[in-house]
Amino acid sequence: MNRPVAEIGQVTATKQISSGLWDIEVYSPKIAVQTRAGQFAHVRINDSFNPFLRRPLSIGPIQDGKLRLIFAIRGEGTRLLSQKKPGDAIDLIGPLGGVFEIPDDDSALVFLTGGIGVVPLLLLDDQLPKRRERVFILGVRSVDSIPVTLDEAEKRHIRWSSDDGSVGFHGNSVQLLENVLNGLGSRKARVIGCGPGKMLAGMKRLCQEMKIPASASLEVPMGCGVGACQSCAVPRTDGKGYLLVCKDGPIFDCNDVVIEPEVLP
Ligand SMILES: Cc1cc2nc3c(=O)[nH]c(=O)nc-3n(C[C@H](O)[C@H](O)[C@H](O)COP(=O)(O)OP(=O)(O)OC[C@H]3O[C@@H](n4cnc5c(N)ncnc54)[C@H](O)[C@@H]3O)c2cc1C
Ligand code: FES
Repeated sequence: MNRPVAEIGQVTATKQISSGLWDIEVYSPKIAVQTRAGQFAHVRINDSFNPFLRRPLSIGPIQDGKLRLIFAIRGEGTRLLSQKKPGDAIDLIGPLGGVFEIPDDDSALVFLTGGIGVVPLLLLDDQLPKRRERVFILGVRSVDSIPVTLDEAEKRHIRWSSDDGSVGFHGNSVQLLENVLNGLGSRKARVIGCGPGKMLAGMKRLCQEMKIPASASLEVPMGCGVGACQSCAVPRTDGKGYLLVCKDGPIFDCNDVVIEPEVLP
């Protein structure tokens, strides 16, 4: 496993993709060279004590030492982050957390993502060998709230679902997942999900019914990011306490943790 480092990155580009959604590129060569898909960076927003805590963000596509961070404005931290300009410094610690474990067999991979949950799967899409079969699903509320451009989605063969039918399949992403899994027939498959708690709960239920292995990357609020404060604890399904998303995750086998909208954002 790689060792996280602290690095002062430099913002090289910023772009607003849609309302409240930003895509920024940060030159951070020491973190970039080590990162494997599924890992995240703990980002210090600025030099002042507001906000005091770092914010976890998944590491997206990497090129020439530059990391893409794609985020939704949720509160003060992400609002301030969206104001960064090329040339600004950003204090990062990373890569943190575990990586997506890909079975070494011929199973078809199905990525189920919702909103900004797409980010770690973009990097997995880049790091997987091209020949490995995958279906990439991205669910959004509407075309006005897309986290990647339509151009990028087309290049990656992403299949959209939207709640209002303005892009791709009209319906939610779990309904599209069910269609995709039915279409695979008797092929062995593995589902990997990242997105809102409601979507992940639906994915877990469906995969259990269809007896298909599934793992989920959980994006819960974090305090320390290193296993000290317990703020990222999620209940184990066996009733034996909790697992920590920052230390034991963020990726879990769906059978190991409680995945319900009441527990996850
Ligand atoms: C592994 C991981 C990957 C993620 N990847 C992405 C991504 O790629 N894109 C994206 O948009 N979002 C991502 N998120 C979610 C993102 O971290 C939050 O949206 C972000 O932290 C919100 O910060 P804010 O200041 O804007 O929001 P606010 O709601 O103002 O800040 C609240 C945040 O502050 C922290 N916090 C404040 N006080 C405490 C306390 N006492 N104890 C513990 N925590 C506290 C928590 O992290 C909480 O989320 C990810 C989360 C995780 C865990
Ligand atoms: S964020 Fe502090 S224990 Fe996980």
